[in-house]
Amino acid sequence: MPSSATARACANIALVKYWGKRDAARNLPAAGSLSLTLGALVTETTVAFDAVLASDELILDGVPARPADLQRTSAFLDLIRAQAKVTTRARVTSRNEFPTASGLASSASGFAALAVAATTAAGLACSPRELSMLARRGSGSAARSIYGGFVRMHAGHAADGSDCFAEPIVSRLVDRVRMVIAIVGGGAPKAHGSRDAMEHTAATSPFYRAWIDQVPADLAVAEGALAAGDLAQLGTIAEANALAMHASALAARPAIVYWQPTTLALLAEVRALRDRGHAAWATMDAGPHVKVLTSIDEAEAIATALRAVPGASEVTISGPGGPATVTT
Ligand code: PMV
Repeated sequence: MPSSATARACANIALVKYWGKRDAARNLPAAGSLSLTLGALVTETTVAFDAVLASDELILDGVPARPADLQRTSAFLDLIRAQAKVTTRARVTSRNEFPTASGLASSASGFAALAVAATTAAGLACSPRELSMLARRGSGSAARSIYGGFVRMHAGHAADGSDCFAEPIVSRLVDRVRMVIAIVGGGAPKAHGSRDAMEHTAATSPFYRAWIDQVPADLAVAEGALAAGDLAQLGTIAEANALAMHASALAARPAIVYWQPTTLALLAEVRALRDRGHAAWATMDAGPHVKVLTSIDEAEAIATALRAVPGASEVTISGPGGPATVTT
């Protein structure tokens, strides 16, 4: 059995968001979601099981990880150790190849790469679906990063989560889409992590139920757009869905506000670009950054326009990324 393996996985951006759980212990989402895996945002992770280690170790981007991150990684490795019937501790080394200091969430690519590297190192032969379900235990969005291109996450109904996994969606749009990522700096303290924030929204927002009830219809529109190769329809539903997710969070008590002034300026610029006939639709996650869905032909023009917005500290164009893979 190999005791060490390295894997690479790409982050993904949801076009129909995951925001709320039906089971926190198993990390089961309350509704489905749909995403695009991004080739420009990659995590590479090496897992080495080593009998001399007394406890797990985690080095993130060259420095020992914070205790909370180590604890989360260790709990995730326990799932794999239980499956592989081993108790050996592991040294985990992980590096994010993201736009410099982007502050983008890397949990999706991180847990997808960790799932692939750790199962391989433990000698487990897992199908992509099994890897997706495993990655989900680390972070809901990580289930989608097992696959490349457009990906659909199923909420499922089973109490044990056996029908809760992601799978790829084939669409000719994959050859045409680009995501332009505008990083909003400003040095504001990091806002609420998605895990706590979605729980708080579910517990206190009067709009949470409406949000969850809306997701299946949005998923149907997005899947229809992918089947038809209709970028405008996909972008329109993605922007509406992101705003609905944020509306549910804004209505939480106390409110969860991820937006900064530059976020709003970027959203206004995206609307202005559309008014001038450009293909540009915005989405935002648990942070102030704005990601803009566009076409390969328009990506440069959109990036140039976003770079001109005061406060947008870095703008990156990404094409679709591939599935999580073992490299060594
Ligand atoms: O996978 P988590 O627990 O980090 O949650 C992801 C939440 C959002 O990024 C806001 C939406 C999504 O579907 O990725």
